[in-house]
Amino acid sequence: MEKMIIEGGACLRGTVEISGAKNACLPIMAASIMAEGPCVIRNAPRVSDVNTLTEMLRFIGATVDFSDNGCSVRIDPSGVTGGDAPYEMVKKMRASICFLGPLLARFGRASISLPGGCVIGPRPIGLHLKGLAALGARIELNHGYIEAEADGLRGAEVFLAGRFGPSVLATANVMSAAVLAGGTTRIIGAACEPEIVDLAEFLISMGARIRGHGSHILEIDGVEGLSASEYTIIPDRIEAGTFMAAAAITGGEVVLAGARHDHLGAVVDKLAEAGVEIRRDGESVVVKGTGSVRNVDVATHHYPGFPTDLQAQLTALMTVSEGISIITEKVFPERFMHVPELNRMAANISIEGPSAIVRGVRELSGAPVMASDLRASAALIIAGLVAGGRTEVNRVYHIDRGYDGIEKKLSALGARIWREKGSL
Ligand code: UD1
Repeated sequence: MEKMIIEGGACLRGTVEISGAKNACLPIMAASIMAEGPCVIRNAPRVSDVNTLTEMLRFIGATVDFSDNGCSVRIDPSGVTGGDAPYEMVKKMRASICFLGPLLARFGRASISLPGGCVIGPRPIGLHLKGLAALGARIELNHGYIEAEADGLRGAEVFLAGRFGPSVLATANVMSAAVLAGGTTRIIGAACEPEIVDLAEFLISMGARIRGHGSHILEIDGVEGLSASEYTIIPDRIEAGTFMAAAAITGGEVVLAGARHDHLGAVVDKLAEAGVEIRRDGESVVVKGTGSVRNVDVATHHYPGFPTDLQAQLTALMTVSEGISIITEKVFPERFMHVPELNRMAANISIEGPSAIVRGVRELSGAPVMASDLRASAALIIAGLVAGGRTEVNRVYHIDRGYDGIEKKLSALGARIWREKGSL
């Protein structure tokens, strides 16, 4: 397994190109199997989750080709006649669940392994099943698999939010299935994340009739079929937010080329409160750290609130702030695996229920640490950028799931970071 080595202390300066959004790309690639011809997805990020989804597409019979240095994907679904997502694939990537709606809608049948638990806490799928059942799917859970069947889905009204608010991938599944259902579907309590809007726009580009995307109420008039389409996905707001935190913690100045300021409202607002200067500059966003970080309190929420996928990175930033920050996780209340590792680097964080109490310290100290999940690894790298001496982030494969060449991008900004073979 590889590890990332960081020698702390360099100030980040320069321009970084923001890649396409992983969380838009995955459901869009899965939905492409509903088209009656080959789709081309542009601006795909070169991350291992996209490779896992590609394996899954090939497994069910699609032909997938990459071009444009790996950033364009052509998906020809003509060989797909239905499909299963086996445990070996779903355990690698929970987002494989996003095949459920498209397979069911297009082929009347889907069998997907139940994803099971995950390091950031319980990941139920009840809302996915509730929404698809409302459209007329017969669903059984057998031997660890979701077995779904339908002789023809029909439009319905469904309330899709749960106790933690709307579900992103449940909305993706039910919206995708509703596109080929007879009649009109109303999803109330839909997720309104930019990645869901992007999926809706992709489906519309294939001929779907969807209204209300970007709000909590979606209306979908079913159509007979979907045609092939070429589509460019949005830039990754989580990658952009990660580079914002990295620039801020080093007191540097970084241009995030292609980042969408309008997708980052809550993040820009919180970082401004922390004393970080952020401005839009044409098609870019410019971030300037001022050398000191003010403590801020934040609670994660579904969009447009502060994203849970940037909670760990903000926590890393707050470890060197001037006071005490309370960071509350409202989406995945157990998502604090990065905390003991940050504490190994001399941070002072305690967990109280769903909150991390972060007492700012003057200096972090480089140490060997263990990445537990994708965003936790990003947080450890951010901390390593300012820690005294050398930080080793082990199990770096987590970061490759969602960041396209993070060490190359950080090196180009002046960070001292590289990859080595590791034993853990
Ligand atoms: C997606 C993102 C993930 C992000 C998360 C929340 C992708 C590939 N992944 O995951 O990066 O962290 O949104 O923004 O896009 N829930 C239920 N019942 C369900 C489904 C979810 O109670 O049936 C709960 C979850 O436990 C969680 C909350 O709803 O507390 C939000 O989860 P959800 O939006 O479903 O996350 P994902 O779509 O899996």
